[in-house]
Amino acid sequence: MKRFPRLFAAASVLCSLAAAGGARAATVDATRMMALAQSSGCLACHALHRTKVAPSYDAIAQRFQGHADAVQTLQNAILNGHSGTWGIVPMPSYGGAQGLLTPAQAQDLARWVLSMAQPGGAAARP
Ligand code: HEC
Repeated sequence: MKRFPRLFAAASVLCSLAAAGGARAATVDATRMMALAQSSGCLACHALHRTKVAPSYDAIAQRFQGHADAVQTLQNAILNGHSGTWGIVPMPSYGGAQGLLTPAQAQDLARWVLSMAQPGGAAARP
């Protein structure tokens, strides 16, 4: 009987560690992502809130909001390139042989783009 409190304490420590880890994985640092987008050349074609050669990031976020596989879809588009969803201009590939971005970086960028559909997300920035 005396062991229960200890077990409970151990379990709650594990739970809070898991919760902290989960929160970290789901959130991306908007300042860091903006710098990565800038240094990767994304902003030559994309803007956050207006259409340039490419769709704005908030328009992409709106379009994919509620799609269960949105992160995966956008990560794939960044890594492998994409065309046809928004028009005839292709999105270049950043993964593969060139290896301009790692899959993890592409996933962070996908989450950052998707965060722009949420009030108080990265959309609050210019
Ligand atoms: C040369 C111009 C250009 C550059 C540079 C560029 N993109 Fe794109 N991007 C496009 C175009 C055009 C589309 C629309 C493609 C389509 O119609 O499917 C697009 C689409 C996307 C999409 C949506 C994909 C989809 O399935 O609808 C995401 C996300 C995206 N770009 C992110 C990025 C990121 C992140 C970078 C930098 C690492 C980047 N883009 C760099 C032109 C560009």
